[in-house]
Amino acid sequence: MARIPLLAANWKLHKTIAEAAAFVAAFRPAVAGLNGVEVALCPPFTALATVGRELLGSGIALGAQNMYKEDQGAYTGEVSPVMLRDLGVRYVILGHSERRSLFGEDDALIMAKVHAACRHGLIPILCVGETLAEREAGATAAVVVRQVEAATRGLAPAQVAGLVIAYEPVWAIGTGRNASAADANAVGALIRREVGARFGPAAAAGLRIQYGGSVKAANVAEFQRQPEIDGALVGGASLDPHGFAELVRAAAVAR
Ligand code: PGA
Repeated sequence: MARIPLLAANWKLHKTIAEAAAFVAAFRPAVAGLNGVEVALCPPFTALATVGRELLGSGIALGAQNMYKEDQGAYTGEVSPVMLRDLGVRYVILGHSERRSLFGEDDALIMAKVHAACRHGLIPILCVGETLAEREAGATAAVVVRQVEAATRGLAPAQVAGLVIAYEPVWAIGTGRNASAADANAVGALIRREVGARFGPAAAAGLRIQYGGSVKAANVAEFQRQPEIDGALVGGASLDPHGFAELVRAAAVAR
């Protein structure tokens, strides 16, 4: 079964409700009628309800940037998978490098979040990737395999088949320096091999692997043409509706 590429916009800490609504108003018509790719917008929590409403009937999915591992309870400031489902959220970014490095998220917490998301029918976009120091030390493969192994431990093969894993080298995020398409493809192949060895060929074949890190309209096609890459997780280049629409169109054509 062919994997449908997913182009996901990670807005990070950007956009008020009004700005988010204006984005959708401009973006929706700009990508109407595109085939062969799936698109998700991941606004901040405060804009999820509005963006979800504005996307109704568009075929564009709603995603969140994070969530907590518990359904409810005394966890001040957190948002649960139940609450995200309530808003019509389909995807949730988990283990982003900014969550790992700035907010102290470790592999154990990320694993618990992945399990919680799957339990509630949310599709995790699990982010993995090496730092510059790790890359220079030749540790890319070891780091990525460890992160994938830790976050997927205990999942059923069918759950793994439905996952999205975003390979995002930390040194490429927001820097304008992207991995080469060949390098991204090699890491994608490594992730798929690792998943296949642990969960079987159907899980490996179903799993979607995105590349993330300074993806833009001008380079998305190179990544999209790689056999192991199924779309992109896009930060900075997803903030402008026309620019992101151009990126999505470029990915759809490259397919
Ligand atoms: P970037 O961010 O596209 O701005 O590099 C990607 C990400 O952090 O997901």
